[in-house]
Amino acid sequence: MSVTLKPLKKAVLPVAGLGTRFLPATKALAKEMLPVVDRPLIQYAVDEARAAGIEQFCFVTGRGKTAIVEHFDVAYELERTLEAREKTAELNALRAQAMVPGSIVTVRQQVPMGLGHAIWCARSFVGEDPFAILLPDDLMMCETPCTGQLAEAYRETGGNVVAIEEVPMERVNRYGVLDVAEDKGKLVSVKGLVEKPPVEQAPSNLTIIGRYVLMPEVMQHLAKLEKGAGGEVQLTDSMAKLIGSQPFHGLRYEGRRYDCGDKAGFLEAQVAFALKRPDLAPAMKAILKAYA
Ligand code: UTP
Repeated sequence: MSVTLKPLKKAVLPVAGLGTRFLPATKALAKEMLPVVDRPLIQYAVDEARAAGIEQFCFVTGRGKTAIVEHFDVAYELERTLEAREKTAELNALRAQAMVPGSIVTVRQQVPMGLGHAIWCARSFVGEDPFAILLPDDLMMCETPCTGQLAEAYRETGGNVVAIEEVPMERVNRYGVLDVAEDKGKLVSVKGLVEKPPVEQAPSNLTIIGRYVLMPEVMQHLAKLEKGAGGEVQLTDSMAKLIGSQPFHGLRYEGRRYDCGDKAGFLEAQVAFALKRPDLAPAMKAILKAYA
């Protein structure tokens, strides 16, 4: 481990996508505000990042996303009402989520030109520091929070780390895919990355999920705003350009991902997260039995 390694304190959460797969729900409501059980997706992502030691957050927002920022404000009237009604548990739950003043900034992505473009919009926030990226629609269920696992791998390798998982070969064309230099088991060193390759050209079935720790130099490549797969500015293309000049690894994270950008994944997450909750598990089990 390098002694000069900068600590990981910043995270960028891109939330400017249109969420077309969830229309009409996402016409006026941000996809990231959709709740799983009783918390919006964005809250899970922020809690995960905080548990990994992240102290500064940048939300890359767009039109119709104001509720996301409001969600992290103090709701004085609500707190006073809960106090007056002696709803202590609810009040404490709200207060436990309070953010340190000034710890969230927002930048605007006026036009959703792709994930790479969204990340580039956060370049002033990132400055010269390493940073995490969390895509809130990838909801993680991990004993050690996924971003925490990546932070640990960053400290070990001193460079870029992306969370990866294996998918059946016929589905690799939906993801960013690793070209493997050396598979060391948990950590995989990477010699190339390709976004949404045709199945027959995919270099592996190891795919990138929505959790990253990147070095600030990625911004220099994103700044060129080159369009890639689907005509969008792809983060994967700029990450690929870091390989060779900086360490780049995939991390087989421990845990499970629920793709909440997809309807079936979102519904599965509701069931899985409800079953994890002692207050809801019995009712959920009874419901599942009734529908079996
Ligand atoms: P998705 O690929 O899921 O796109 O973005 P989307 O627009 O949110 O949803 P669909 O596919 O139309 O249903 C992955 C993440 O990147 C963000 C999204 O908000 C989401 O968190 N994103 C994507 C942006 O912030 N800007 C973009 O231009 C594209």
